[in-house]
Amino acid sequence: MQNVFIKFFLMLMKYITNSSGVTMPCMLYGTAWKKDKTADLVTTAVKFGLRGIDTACQPKHYHEAGVGEAIQRLASQGINREDLYIQTKFTPLNGQDPFNIPYDKRAPLSEQVAQSFEVSKQNLGLSYVDGLILHSPLENINQTLIAWQAMENIYKQEGTKQIGISNCYDLETLKELYQAATIKPTLLQNRFYKDSNYDNEIRKWCQEQKIIYQSFWTLTANPQILSSEAVQKATQTYQKTAAQILFHVLVNIGIVPLSGTCSEKHMKEDLEIFNFDLPIEVRRDIASLFTSNLQF
Ligand SMILES: NC(=O)c1ccc[n+]([C@@H]2O[C@H](COP(=O)([O-])OP(=O)(O)OC[C@H]3O[C@@H](n4cnc5c(N)ncnc54)[C@H](OP(=O)(O)O)[C@@H]3O)[C@@H](O)[C@H]2O)c1
Repeated sequence: MQNVFIKFFLMLMKYITNSSGVTMPCMLYGTAWKKDKTADLVTTAVKFGLRGIDTACQPKHYHEAGVGEAIQRLASQGINREDLYIQTKFTPLNGQDPFNIPYDKRAPLSEQVAQSFEVSKQNLGLSYVDGLILHSPLENINQTLIAWQAMENIYKQEGTKQIGISNCYDLETLKELYQAATIKPTLLQNRFYKDSNYDNEIRKWCQEQKIIYQSFWTLTANPQILSSEAVQKATQTYQKTAAQILFHVLVNIGIVPLSGTCSEKHMKEDLEIFNFDLPIEVRRDIASLFTSNLQF
């Protein structure tokens, strides 16, 4: 009975392919702050049908080895590594707990990236990941490029299928990185919130370069969108939650949201966003709350 249920949810997940030809699920399961519950929660999320996992080599916020444990458990239950999309991050020193840094802080930056990735592979029990993300730009573009080139080396050695960046809210920095890079970024993972004007310009540019924009803080930073008239009206008309309506609209404009829910009810609800459709006018009204250059 349980298998039927899992298969039912599995059919719902949709996928998106970016400029490097890498296919990823349209929603990812975020593993931050789950500590020793990481393995159980990731296992449950994948069993429900989520297939993409976001983690980081940053013990301050992520228990990366817990993700590895879940991958192993899932494999023993018939869900293979190839069925999953797994991305991790290199976190520069300023994002690490100074008392728990997963690489040698005195090593040159490029060596720190290589060491961090070795730790990730060990934590995850994997020989490659589907995405490796620079957790944030460094203090200047030269430093950022040193880290980027180290990530390019990992890509060239087939350690990752693609590379990306996170917490990059300055379009000029992103363009500079893009132009200087030999291996172009294909992922941008950013906080989706009003203070950055929802990255309107950045998202437009990313779309032109076929860079996938991944959002976090999607629900927590946006109570005003969730309680807006447009979203509330849709919740009543279509009998969905405000979170489902917002996630559904985002996915339909090419954004890949991260959900880090710890609730099984919310995991199911998150997956249901692939199982209904909203009229174009409804999606447009909601998307216009955070997108100024809509092309519907
Ligand atoms: N790159 C970065 O710097 C960065 C920074 C932050 C996060 N991230 C990534 O993004 C992931 C998500 O983090 P987040 O900050 O966006 O928040 P989150 O961990 O996804 O938390 C969302 C909050 O919304 C609640 N919620 C209510 N309804 C929900 C629904 N239907 N689906 C999902 N959540 C629902 C959750 O509560 P319940 O648990 O009760 O559902 C939770 O309290 C992280 O795990 C991490 O992988 C990356």
